Amino acid sequence: MLTEASVPRLLVDTKGRIAAKLRISVTDRCNFACLFCMPDKSAMRWLPSADLLSFDEIERVTRVFVAMGITKVRITGGEPLLRNGVEGLVKRLTEIDGLESVDITTNGFFLGSKAQALKTAGLRGVTVSLHSLKEDRFARISGINALPRVLESISEAIRVGLHPMKINSVAIRGYNDDEVLDLVDYARKMNVAIRFIEFMPLDGLDIWDRDKMVTGQEILDTVRSRFSILPAGRGDGETASIWKFADGRGELGVITPMSEPFCDDCDRLRLTSDGKILSCLFDTEYHDLKPILRNSGDDEKLATFVREAVWKKPEGVGYMPWIKQGWKNPRNMNAIGG
Ligand code: GTP
Ligand code: 5AD
Ligand code: SF4
Repeated sequence: MLTEASVPRLLVDTKGRIAAKLRISVTDRCNFACLFCMPDKSAMRWLPSADLLSFDEIERVTRVFVAMGITKVRITGGEPLLRNGVEGLVKRLTEIDGLESVDITTNGFFLGSKAQALKTAGLRGVTVSLHSLKEDRFARISGINALPRVLESISEAIRVGLHPMKINSVAIRGYNDDEVLDLVDYARKMNVAIRFIEFMPLDGLDIWDRDKMVTGQEILDTVRSRFSILPAGRGDGETASIWKFADGRGELGVITPMSEPFCDDCDRLRLTSDGKILSCLFDTEYHDLKPILRNSGDDEKLATFVREAVWKKPEGVGYMPWIKQGWKNPRNMNAIGG
């Protein structure tokens, strides 16, 4: 029988899932206020900077994770490019033996000015969140009038060769669900991947309800009304089911955590900007590494703590029946970076 002790060098949970990807949030702050993510901006209380893990601490923790099988890191926020010197962190992480790639998920606002430095630092790819191509609507959804700037950033990131480039869109009924085809057109024009994510009940304003959620199936039906698409499946541990366009240009992904959860092969872990492990997006329990980090615990202690935290990873949203009845979200997305 599988026990925690029988796999000391890997991060495994009670369901036998082995963690391979770590999402590291480097700040809880964001200069946007997307309505499916942040609570009311005036109610936001950011973490004091002393609570954030330093780059030394993040590097140390990442080395411990990599020694236990993590091969990919994605840097997230809040908005990760708000953290001063984040390109320096990217460089330090890319130099860790055994780590295959470091990517970033960003709102794109600072990407234009940082793209070259990030590329030079060794960053692999970028995912940019983009939920509308209409300026006024972008402002309403993301709380800031920044569409032209984000589009320029995407062009610049492509120009400097950051790859893979993906666009993430959360389609919300009544807000932007009429823009699916326009977003697909734009992504194909830029020759980047576009992924539509189902709206999850992790929003700060509590506006989520089932009717606002546009399912992956609906997205596919809409896209098929104009394009011929071919299924390319969902890779092990991946979030997106991939579809290719018959003419070979661009790529479509649908991410269906609500209608078709992908928890059974979930290989992701999250580290919050103040040093807590969250083993599942929908978990209510954090595992705080900071006391060990800051009170001279050695790496062996850190590793044991991480292994125990991962062991307790919940089965996931697909196994939470109460989610169907409506629930109170345990946190807002901005605290964990998606
Ligand atoms: P990599 O596989 O590391 O490249 O990650 P990715 O491309 O899936 O990362 P990305 O930031 O693009 O994630 C896309 C979105 O999918 C996130 O913003 C979340 O909304 C959602 N998502 C990512 N991981 C999970 C997960 O483990 N569970 C659930 N329910 N949703 C997730
Ligand atoms: N449901 C689905 N996706 C969300 N994101 C933020 N909040 C939600 C939510 N409630 C996604 C954004 C962004 C990433 C960081 O998280 O699309 O790409
Ligand atoms: Fe993984 Fe939890 Fe998301 Fe399921 S809900 S895919 S277990 S993070």
